[in-house]
Amino acid sequence: MSNVKVMDHPLIKHKISLLRDCNTSSKEFRELVSEIAMLMCYEATRDLPLKEVEIETPIGTARSEILNNVKMAFVPIMRAGMGMLDGMIEMIPAAKIGHIGMYRDPETLNPEQYYCKLPSDISRREVYVLDPMLATGGSAIGAIDILKKAGCTNIKQLCIIACPEGIEAFTTAHPDVQLFVGVIDKGLNEEGYIVPGLGDCGDRIYGTK
Ligand code: PRP
Ligand code: URA
Repeated sequence: MSNVKVMDHPLIKHKISLLRDCNTSSKEFRELVSEIAMLMCYEATRDLPLKEVEIETPIGTARSEILNNVKMAFVPIMRAGMGMLDGMIEMIPAAKIGHIGMYRDPETLNPEQYYCKLPSDISRREVYVLDPMLATGGSAIGAIDILKKAGCTNIKQLCIIACPEGIEAFTTAHPDVQLFVGVIDKGLNEEGYIVPGLGDCGDRIYGTK
């Protein structure tokens, strides 16, 4: 678990509880996913490098700090990862955005890639992979395989709900990738859903069930 950071912020805990509730509407659900992503972005970017600058204020000169030439890319795993994108961009509007499309085969639970479009300079960027759910871990592992093949070496993964099986698989496959999770649930049921989780995240975001 050395490369796993579990969120301990009360606002994140509160919003995850609302997210789980089966009575939460799609509209509220979308807003919550975006807000949680924004709060997780804050936690996941704590180690960004800064440099000192001088700024003229209306009153005088301030020695102050700004980000030191950080180039980032956000890569949501479609569909559900798209729900986290707005919250991240709100915090870091200069980030470039890539998309990876993955769906889990309902029988085998293996991830199938159906789309990939990445910024041309992604290998030189700090990459944040976004997906609300880490269940078996297959989708996240597959997405990071793709990013590593594209030359990325500085990758962080952000998930809102994870389970021990997914964390074990993910950290074994990609021990060099920092994993940020909102909460760790009990485990998986026989259909590969996180228990108690929140159900099917993509369906809840897009109202498809
Ligand atoms: C969900 C979720 C993850 C994946 C997690 O996507 O958004 O990508 O399942 O499961 P895993 O850890 O076992 O791979 P899903 O395949 O349901 O597609 P969707 O987002 O299009 O609904
Ligand atoms: N995907 C989801 O949307 N929910 C789960 O619980 C597991 C995978």
